[in-house]
Amino acid sequence: MVQQTIQVGLGERSYPITVGKGLLERIGSALQTAKIAKRYGIISDDRVGVLYGEQIQSVLEQAGIASELILFPHGETSKNLQTIGHLASVLAERSFDRGDALLALGGGVTGDITGFLASIYMRGIPFVQVPTSLLAQVDSSVGGKTGVDISEGKNLIGTFYQPKAVFIDTDVLKTLPAEEFLSGMAEVIKYGASIDADFFNWLGANREAILALEPEVIASMIRRCCEFKALVVEQDEREGGLRRILNFGHTIGHAVEAASGYQLIHGYAVAIGMRAVAELAVRCGYADKEVAAKLEELLRQYRLPTEIPSGLDRDVLRRYLQADKKTIGGRVFFVLPEAIGKVRITDQVQDADLDAVLAGGTSEG
Ligand code: GLY
Repeated sequence: MVQQTIQVGLGERSYPITVGKGLLERIGSALQTAKIAKRYGIISDDRVGVLYGEQIQSVLEQAGIASELILFPHGETSKNLQTIGHLASVLAERSFDRGDALLALGGGVTGDITGFLASIYMRGIPFVQVPTSLLAQVDSSVGGKTGVDISEGKNLIGTFYQPKAVFIDTDVLKTLPAEEFLSGMAEVIKYGASIDADFFNWLGANREAILALEPEVIASMIRRCCEFKALVVEQDEREGGLRRILNFGHTIGHAVEAASGYQLIHGYAVAIGMRAVAELAVRCGYADKEVAAKLEELLRQYRLPTEIPSGLDRDVLRRYLQADKKTIGGRVFFVLPEAIGKVRITDQVQDADLDAVLAGGTSEG
C-alpha cells in the first residue's frame, strides 16, 4: 500500500484524507492538483517546524507553490488568543489574502490554532492539515474542530471549520517521542472501545507490530480511525448528538488533565478517563465488570495509566468536571460503555457512584 484516501462527505465542504508512507515527499504534487491556493502559510511550532518545515517548503517549491514558514513556541501554553493575534499580524505583514491558504504542520495544538486562524483571518481562508503526532493523525486533524484556550478552560473559544484536505505521513511517527505515541494510542483505543469491538480486539492482537511501528499495520490502524471519525462527523458535524461519543473518556479525562495542572499529557488523562467511566458504568449497572476489565487490560498493554493519581485533589477534580463545556444546564453528561464497542450518553449518574469512582474505589465498593 503506497497510500489510501478516505473521503469525509460533508456536501460542498467534503475533503479527502490521504494516508501513506513518505507522503510528505508527494504533498507538492497533491496540492498542485488540488488547486487550493497560490501560496501557503505553513504554521508550525519551533520543534516540528525545525524538523520538517524546510522539507515541506522545498517540496512545495518543486511543485511551483510559494510558501512562508511561520513558527510559534511549542506547547499547549501557546494555544491562546495572543498567538492567534501574533500569527494574524505576520500573515497581514506578508500580504496574505483570500487567494492564499494555511498549512497546519504539527500536532493537535498546531492544528487547532491553524484551523481557528484560517476560520477568522479575512473572514476565512482555506487550510490543509498535515498532522505529525499520532493523536492529531487519528483524531484532531479530522472533523473541523478548531480553537484556543482561555484561562477559564480549554478550547472555550473556537469554530467548526473543515480543512480542504488532510495528509497523513506515517513516517513522521518515527520522530515522535514514545510518550506522545502512547498518548495517541489512547485515542485509537477510544474508537475500538466506543464504536467497534472488532477493532478493539485487533488492537490487542497487533500490539507488538503497532508498538514496533510496522508501516503496514500502522497505516491500516490510522486509516480505520479516520474512517470511524469521518463516519461520525458526516452524521453530526457540530456535535448535536452522535459526535459526543468521541468524547468517550474525555469528560473525566479533561478534568484529570486540568487538575494535574496539565502535567499529565492528554492521552494519558483520556486513558484514565476511559477506565473511570467503565468503572462508573459498572456501578450504574449499565455494563458488566468484564467490560471494565477488558478495557483496563488493553490500556495496560499499551503502557497507559488507568488510575486517577492519588495526589490529585478530588474537590478540584469535581470543580473541573462541573465547569466542562460538555456540561449542559448544570448537568454533566457521561459517555458510558455498555459493552466493548457500544456506549450510551447519559446524565443519569448518582453522585455517590461518581464520588466512589473519583476516590478510586472499585465496584466491589
Ligand atoms: N475529538 C473529538 C471530536 O473531534 O469530536
